[in-house]
Amino acid sequence: MLQNRKSDPAKLAGAIMQWLDRPLVLVGLMGVGKSTVGKRLATDLGIDFVDADEEIETAAQMTISEIFERFGEPYFRDGERRVISRLIDGVPRVIATGGGAFMNDQTRALILQGAIAIWLDADLATLVERVSRRNTRPLLKNGNPGEVLAKLAEVRNPVYAQAQIHVRSKDGPHHRTVLTILEALARWHG
Ligand code: S3P
Repeated sequence: MLQNRKSDPAKLAGAIMQWLDRPLVLVGLMGVGKSTVGKRLATDLGIDFVDADEEIETAAQMTISEIFERFGEPYFRDGERRVISRLIDGVPRVIATGGGAFMNDQTRALILQGAIAIWLDADLATLVERVSRRNTRPLLKNGNPGEVLAKLAEVRNPVYAQAQIHVRSKDGPHHRTVLTILEALARWHG
């Protein structure tokens, strides 16, 4: 059967690249798949992928846990803002941000002005299952991850909702979520 033209990722990506003139920034809670989906989205669009958390670790020569332990969260948030500011330079690329980046007023303003924010969202059970795969996240080290994530969702979701685009991450293969993002971008541009 012929694939529906609208849901052909290559055609959608080609059309998006005709008008895309700034970065795409993935925001959303820990465990939602911003990095995995972001890498795949960048590949489909033929542009670079950058993980803001990795950039911060490289710049500081420390892991995020070490930065939190040695200098505290405000120091990390400041580094995060500087890294994201450097990455938003009018060049189309995909940037995955850490879950708290968009909560910082200055960082959020930078993203909303200079990029297209995409809120990647999933139900709590999916997030809990995904974060259980690695234990490097300082905010989940003390307490029950499900409870911490539920509290964060309550506070953060209304802020994530300011993103230009909102996509729910599917349980299935990541390419489905990527396709949903491509479709949402095409609709958003009109
Ligand atoms: C954080 C999320 C993490 C990382 C840091 C803080 C948060 O990134 O930036 O541990 O505040 O939600 P991921 O969302 O990529 O796990």
